Amino acid sequence: MKFYKLSPEKRRALLKQQGIDLSPISPAQLTAMDNLSENVVGSICLPLGIVEKLLVNGKEYMVPMATEEPSVIAAANHGSKIFARHGGVKVKNQRKGIYGQIVLQVNKTFKLKSIKDKIPNLIDVANHQFTSLINHGGGVKKITIRQEKQLVYLKVLVDPAQAMGANKTNAILEFLANLLVDFDGVEEKLFAILSNYPSQLATGRVSLPVNSLGGKEVAAKIALLSQIGIEDPYRGATNNKGIMNGVDAVLIATGNDFRAVEAAAAVLAGENGYHSLSSWKLEEDSLVGQLTLPMPIGVVGGSISARSDIQDAYQILGDVDSETLASIIVGIGLANNLAALLAISTAGIQAGHMRLQARNMVATLETTAENKELILKQMRKDKKYTLEYAKELLKKLQEKK
Ligand code: MEV
Repeated sequence: MKFYKLSPEKRRALLKQQGIDLSPISPAQLTAMDNLSENVVGSICLPLGIVEKLLVNGKEYMVPMATEEPSVIAAANHGSKIFARHGGVKVKNQRKGIYGQIVLQVNKTFKLKSIKDKIPNLIDVANHQFTSLINHGGGVKKITIRQEKQLVYLKVLVDPAQAMGANKTNAILEFLANLLVDFDGVEEKLFAILSNYPSQLATGRVSLPVNSLGGKEVAAKIALLSQIGIEDPYRGATNNKGIMNGVDAVLIATGNDFRAVEAAAAVLAGENGYHSLSSWKLEEDSLVGQLTLPMPIGVVGGSISARSDIQDAYQILGDVDSETLASIIVGIGLANNLAALLAISTAGIQAGHMRLQARNMVATLETTAENKELILKQMRKDKKYTLEYAKELLKKLQEKK
């Protein structure tokens, strides 16, 4: 039997015959995973942590974050605490919908006007077909069309309501494409698929008194670092990685498609030469931070309701709609960004990072939990964060006993 047709238990057994002995997993978890994906043989687990208090548009949220990188959740908490003391993050959303593309190959008899005139009708027909989307407050909002020689491009804007909407948008595009191929002069549909071009934009803004950051000198340094990130792609890429540390962690915890956000964010960052997605500027006695991100996300649909771990994350968040979740994610992106810039402008990033990384190193040692704590404490005291030093300390402890 083909590998993909086997049960996950049989796939694991087959791997075992090849000497690949996977770590144990409960039958229930294995079935749950198998229902989500293909060729499943196990699951990968991430730590779920929380930001205790993020103040967004006047409301406090506890934010779930799933990440294996030490210091990301600590950084988000650090930034969020500073924000909360100074009015929080103000976020404006432009949730107009996500884009889909239909590209048709046409011949010389094709008249662009023939489709252009029918656009209102096409929108009506599609919305009539996908009534459940209309009932949830969404639907096809706009179609624009242009022709480049033998190719006709249709850009379709779909409001996916509370879902991310990728599957629904693709279904709508296929449906429209099937109607379009019957127009005079249309040879064939080349493709009909959603576009990951930036949409559903969310812009977060914070204004922090320079004293909250350790004074004007530090704030000025952050503003300078930010300017460098806007002008120099080497720093810009790292600045954006720090933002995505937080953004992806919330996207993963809430069952959202982080690849879609990453792809769209990369387009925004690449506009007019690659640059930082955020900006931090000194305005009199305040440091003003701003970040715009595409947020093609949802709070329903996809695997969200099928996964109990994701439902845990929504319990932590409370009752949020997709616009609120988009605002929270942008707020976390800004918080991670500020914490990184603050650390770089002051003690340097490595000190804090290595302190947290030490726990991972110590976890790899084969010894008791008590010994691990003692070793960690000593490493932090001595500010020596290497595996060799951890092993040296373990040896000393063992010799003592
Ligand atoms: C590390 O994962 C992310 C940072 O490098 C981001 C930054 O430098 O802004 C700390």
